[in-house]
Amino acid sequence: MSQPSPIPYGRQSIDDDDIAAVIAALKSDWITQGPAIDRFEKAMAAFCGAKHAVAVCNATAALHIGALALGLKSGDRLWTTPNTFVASANCGLYCGATVDFVDIDPRTYNMSVDALRSKLDTAAKDGTLPNILVPVHFSGQSCEMAAIQNLCDQHGIKIMEDASHAVGGEYRGRKIGGGAHADLTVFSFHPVKIMTTGEGGMLLTNDDELHQKLLRLRSHGITRDPRFTRNVPDGPWCYEQVDLGLNYRLTDLQAALGESQLKKLPRFLASRRVLAARYDEKLDGMPFITPWQHPDTLSAWHLYVIQVPAEKRLAIFEGLKAAGILAQIHYIPIHTQPWYQALGFKRGDFPEAERYYSRAISLPMFSSLGEGGQDRVIGALQRLVL
Ligand SMILES: Cc1ncc(COP(=O)(O)O)c(C=O)c1O
Repeated sequence: MSQPSPIPYGRQSIDDDDIAAVIAALKSDWITQGPAIDRFEKAMAAFCGAKHAVAVCNATAALHIGALALGLKSGDRLWTTPNTFVASANCGLYCGATVDFVDIDPRTYNMSVDALRSKLDTAAKDGTLPNILVPVHFSGQSCEMAAIQNLCDQHGIKIMEDASHAVGGEYRGRKIGGGAHADLTVFSFHPVKIMTTGEGGMLLTNDDELHQKLLRLRSHGITRDPRFTRNVPDGPWCYEQVDLGLNYRLTDLQAALGESQLKKLPRFLASRRVLAARYDEKLDGMPFITPWQHPDTLSAWHLYVIQVPAEKRLAIFEGLKAAGILAQIHYIPIHTQPWYQALGFKRGDFPEAERYYSRAISLPMFSSLGEGGQDRVIGALQRLVL
């Protein structure tokens, strides 16, 4: 008898419309930056209620130029959460800044507002306040942004929210990315995320100056816009490099895919929300902690994370794998990574993130998982714990 195919923890949903959109772009005059980029940016800005969007080659690049555009430089400080992918922190190191972490709230697994408040109080006394805070909307659920913004405003700290998990998520009834509580929002379009462009990322902002700066930074720091050039041009061919930018451009092929995927985003979100509610219901009564949702948030459900007894985590993970269920663990706390240990962090520095990590398992969650796939996951879990 043939084995059913393995179920990954996340995967893309690509249909014939997506394929047709990419083929149309491929047959057009532009395969690097062209009209699809502009259309994709405008559509995403409109979806989120933001003034501007800037498409880039991935969210890591977005975080890097976001930090640069906010003015982060050598000797500055960036704080984020330890419970995230390394890119949320590395963007600070790329700019020569010092990175530090704020421990998590054990209910939401997001940055704790209480821990942030007390760390800011100490830093204000010591003269070590951060320049930028990077709250991460872990698993697709927004951080408590009103309280975070209030604290940052008191100390003049800029906010770049890492919403890589949270495309389409909401906070207090508004789409994440609308800029109500952050200077910049970053999205990822990696295939395991809510919607995809292959690799891809985007920055959203309501600030005209930041927007212009981001446009330059994604393309070598070069401009032809007379508002930003300094010299009288020798001729119409002239451009000037006015910033030290990079080549972080998205291609038109990817933007065409993004534009097509965005049309289906409401459907992707709806199916993820149905799956999350069904996991909640079917796992009730089993010895797991299911994800608690803050009443101010509507998650995009990039991840569905359960907590299991720490001493059983490895056996459950391996048991799922043997049953063809490829669960994942999000995240190994960043401060325990060798690179960060070499910077002086050690185990025990952020106990809530470490405790959470020792018990977490991300179950398969993607819009095409379907009830059949989900029942396989639930059945395997039942067999493992009964
Ligand atoms: C929270 C978070 N930030 C940033 C990134 C980086 O995204 P990308 O792969 O698009 O560079 C990821 C990717 O997994 C992520 O999960």
